[in-house]
Amino acid sequence: MKNKKLLNYSDYLQLEKILSGQELMSAKRGTPAHDEMLFIIVHQVYELWFKQILHELDSVMSIFKQESIIESDISFVVLRLQRIIEIQKILIDQIRVLETMTAMDFLEFRDDLFPASGFQSAQFRLMENKLGLLNDHRIMYGGKNYTSVLKEQEKSTVQSSEEEKSLFELLESWLERTPFLSFKGFDFWKQYSKAVRSMLEQEKLIILDNPNYSQEEVEYHLNEHENAVLSFEAMINEERHNKLIVDRKKRLSHKATQASLLILLYRDEPILHSPFNLISRLIDMDELFTSWRQRHALMVRRMIGAKIGTGGSSGHKYLREAADKHKIFSDLADLSTFFIPRSALPELPTDIKQNLGYQFKQ
Ligand code: HEM
Repeated sequence: MKNKKLLNYSDYLQLEKILSGQELMSAKRGTPAHDEMLFIIVHQVYELWFKQILHELDSVMSIFKQESIIESDISFVVLRLQRIIEIQKILIDQIRVLETMTAMDFLEFRDDLFPASGFQSAQFRLMENKLGLLNDHRIMYGGKNYTSVLKEQEKSTVQSSEEEKSLFELLESWLERTPFLSFKGFDFWKQYSKAVRSMLEQEKLIILDNPNYSQEEVEYHLNEHENAVLSFEAMINEERHNKLIVDRKKRLSHKATQASLLILLYRDEPILHSPFNLISRLIDMDELFTSWRQRHALMVRRMIGAKIGTGGSSGHKYLREAADKHKIFSDLADLSTFFIPRSALPELPTDIKQNLGYQFKQ
């Protein structure tokens, strides 16, 4: 112990490496642009947070890969997702710091960056793949596969992440295995469908009777309503649900969708608290990724207007479309269409209720 070298703050954090990693391309060219330092540091901070998010995601996924998952495991998952969510909020806020650089100041060094772009962030692609963004759901970028712009070594890591089971798939099979789907003789779906159908009928009347809607608006809302009806009928009928999956209108399997709905509806039952929190955090996380994409797209619009990106995409247009389409857990968020008031929920038989509760026996 006596001869043990005392640990030093900067050695422990390897600050020498980190703080010597800001090389201004504009300075190399002989005309240093003041704001390039901010530009580099902001991107580096992002990549560090991406690393932390991947660390949390890997741990969450390894829990889901276990053969049996106990209640306390789900609490761990929820805590880790909560950490990701807090980081995501910082990622969105951080854009404000970068926006203290004006579009004119960016032009002082923008040409030095060609063809580098955030589009080449391997860690960003790893996050997308681990969460479950499918390759053929991606908006095409200049007709090329998104991995074609990555460095060789990064490309193979990102490509192998496409082969691994994603969080979406792991969650889906966990939901399919949930024991509380079995209602032993109690016809939940019959009672529940009656309540939902009457709610949907009521909503149709509200659309038709709204004096403020134009004919066009009525048609739009009726069309949306019809989609909700079809989606509900698919909840009851597996074949219809599978057809929606083939048509790419849904992704989550029929069994997993039914399980999620039950968790969301009966969230007040003690055993469903953690599963309910899990589903809610996944929806939060998905929304925050979308918010970051939208916020980034707005910043890009402000910085480069209608110019193409340094990575060669249509810039703002590509980013807006990706924000709209690159979502993973929308099927979970959409389930709220079928929520009914607590008071209208079918009462669970006592034996089922007991199975869903914590029982403290002396
Ligand atoms: C002045 C600031 C920025 C501008 C003008 C900008 C511009 C762009 C543009 C135009 C694209 C589309 C691809 C291309 O053609 O290059 C893009 C993609 C991207 N940028 Fe930025 N960006 C900025 C800051 C950032 C920051 C701070 C990050 C943080 C890591 C970032 C991460 C990304 C990512 C991950 C993509 C790929 C998004 C996707 O494919 O969905 N960008 N950026």
